[in-house]
Amino acid sequence: MERKHLLTTKELTRSEIEAVLDRAAEIEAEGLHGASRDFLLGLMFFEPSTRTRLSFEAAAKRLGGDVVDLGALEASSVEKGETLADSVRVLEGYADALVLRHPREGAARMATEFIDIPLINGGDGAGHHPSQTLLDLYTIRKHVGLDGLSIGILGDLKYGRTVHSLAAALTNFDVTQHFISPESLRLPRDVRFDLHETGASVKEHTEMDDVIPLLDVLYVTRIQRERFPDENEYRAVAGEYSIDASTLEAAKDDLIVLHPLPRVDEIDPAIDDSPRAKYFEQSHNGVPVRMALLDLLLGGEDR
Ligand code: NCD
Repeated sequence: MERKHLLTTKELTRSEIEAVLDRAAEIEAEGLHGASRDFLLGLMFFEPSTRTRLSFEAAAKRLGGDVVDLGALEASSVEKGETLADSVRVLEGYADALVLRHPREGAARMATEFIDIPLINGGDGAGHHPSQTLLDLYTIRKHVGLDGLSIGILGDLKYGRTVHSLAAALTNFDVTQHFISPESLRLPRDVRFDLHETGASVKEHTEMDDVIPLLDVLYVTRIQRERFPDENEYRAVAGEYSIDASTLEAAKDDLIVLHPLPRVDEIDPAIDDSPRAKYFEQSHNGVPVRMALLDLLLGGEDR
């Protein structure tokens, strides 16, 4: 991979995306024993995380590396008032690459100004979450391919960073994107602008029913409660969309349902056993995809 950092999906080309997905497929076929590298990955999570943190840790260890983890904020110098710029400069001395999750949009890009080792944005506020997108695309490609598709993206399109990253990445493929949300959680203007600039095929909806029959993929997201400035605004939209067996009755036979997880009440657990439900597989795909990403960012074939 030519690039040093992975900050958003806006700068990714189709061939770069495919290189990661192809490498991930090889790694998966090899039983998750992709390479043998000696490296330390620094994990810096300033927001809660289960999948991203643990799948990066699993990926690093399965590649032959290990992690150093900033751990809970109360246990680190962040509690003493250390700045992000100082924390990343310190971790740079302990690790060969960093994964950073931070509540502030733009934090990952800012952090790269202070360090010389690769940094992966593990989520910056309502901004981007590019490694999540790579595993989303890996899962989509596996089941329905990546061209000639209609993808519905449902839920919190305003604050959902996985949505912003997925939408930008999909512009590299022949995909019609259907965005479904309450009016107040529409895609932000800058994201709509960027999509428009690429000539992407984009449609916006507030109702689900007319769209469901068109879709090959339904990507459901959680309303990002923690990002609402006002709890009442959250309550006004909470629970507005929920997917259950009856919602999917009108869907194509091979529609798949994805969700970056965690879910709250957006998907009825009764459909977990349906062959359409791919969200747990999607979360498992985080390991081969993050192995591939680390492998490529740390130097690809020349090991
Ligand atoms: C997502 C995130 O952190 O943006 N979680 C994840 O990494 N799978 C989605 C969410 O929190 O809703």
